[in-house]
Amino acid sequence: MSKSQGDTAKPLLEVRELTKRFPVKSGFGRPVRQVHAVEKVSFSIAPGEVVGLVGESGSGKTTVGRTIMRLTEPTEGQILFDGTDIAHKGAREMLAFRRRIQMVFQDPFASLNPRARIGALIAEGMEIHRIGTARERAERVAELLDLVGLPSDAAGRYPHEFSGGQRQRVGIARALAVSPSLIVADEPVSALDVSVQAQVLNLLQDLKERLGLTILFIAHDLAVVEHFCDRVIVMYLGRIMEIAPRRRLYSSPQHPYTEALLSAAPVPDPDAKRDRIVLEGDVPSPIDPPSGCVLRTRCRYALPECARTVPALREVGPGHYKACIRDDILPDRTINGGEKNAS
Ligand SMILES: Nc1ncnc2c1ncn2[C@@H]1O[C@H](COP(=O)(O)OP(=O)(O)OP(=O)(O)O)[C@@H](O)[C@H]1O
Ligand SMILES: [Mg+2]
Repeated sequence: MSKSQGDTAKPLLEVRELTKRFPVKSGFGRPVRQVHAVEKVSFSIAPGEVVGLVGESGSGKTTVGRTIMRLTEPTEGQILFDGTDIAHKGAREMLAFRRRIQMVFQDPFASLNPRARIGALIAEGMEIHRIGTARERAERVAELLDLVGLPSDAAGRYPHEFSGGQRQRVGIARALAVSPSLIVADEPVSALDVSVQAQVLNLLQDLKERLGLTILFIAHDLAVVEHFCDRVIVMYLGRIMEIAPRRRLYSSPQHPYTEALLSAAPVPDPDAKRDRIVLEGDVPSPIDPPSGCVLRTRCRYALPECARTVPALREVGPGHYKACIRDDILPDRTINGGEKNAS
């Protein structure tokens, strides 16, 4: 197994060989089959770090996030939060950890009571965890509204009175209310218009700097995490393909899958030439993923041996890891690429 990343500071979160397989019903008399949603995923997050988790639909990002929150039970593996393995803790023991890990969802109101006022929604976590008196909670709500850039009278209003961007500000205030150590943000801007996306990303960036937040930021697309994350983890079909400090990942991707993802992203400057690398074929079924490297059926660099063993995640540069056996395909541009400090 590879070393953990971010190994200078003691990690706030360390996920070791996390695996989640969902049983799926099949026809009568046939054996139960499994969706291989997440397979042996290992990574860590240092305090104050923002780590992006990126991959196409179905790659297992939400499952990783939900498993860390224990909204989904892991099949195997460890989830070390501040040194304690929370992967198999019971509901009562989890309560304290639940406060310290908060989630921001794509649609923060999907599961909330539409008839509750914004103030009550923001204060809910504080009530569950018995933080402060009613008055202190009201004061904290006012403080949080200001922090996320909403007017103070928002507390008495209802969710339907707010735009998508404002609702996401409420979602962020709700998560921050209990002063969590870690925020898992699952595609928090994916449902928003591009201009509003930028505003919410700026808010998160600002909060990160002011409050020293630690965030696992899940996104579909590499462009969203480019200006925000310290490191990026790239997943495909339940497995980690590459992990790298942000600048290294964008300037010098080392995994064929990252190369393809980057080449698919829109280029802001239309004159900038970029070869478009298209992955062949469709994503295979997670019920029956390919043997060896899961990308091999779509990889233009695949060799026969890629079908035989699952490639280990190995270090190929400072803080840069990839799960690919080939070293002769993608140039390391960081050597001459004006990269001063990789971490
Ligand atoms: N409760 C479940 N039961 C069965 N299969 C599931 C369940 N939840 C997720 N899956 C499957 O697990 C795989 C990973 O799903 P997941 O939602 O984690 O991917 P994702 O990367 O978040 O995708 P998206 O970008 O679409 O949000 C998919 O094949 C999905 O269909
Ligand atoms: Mg998802």
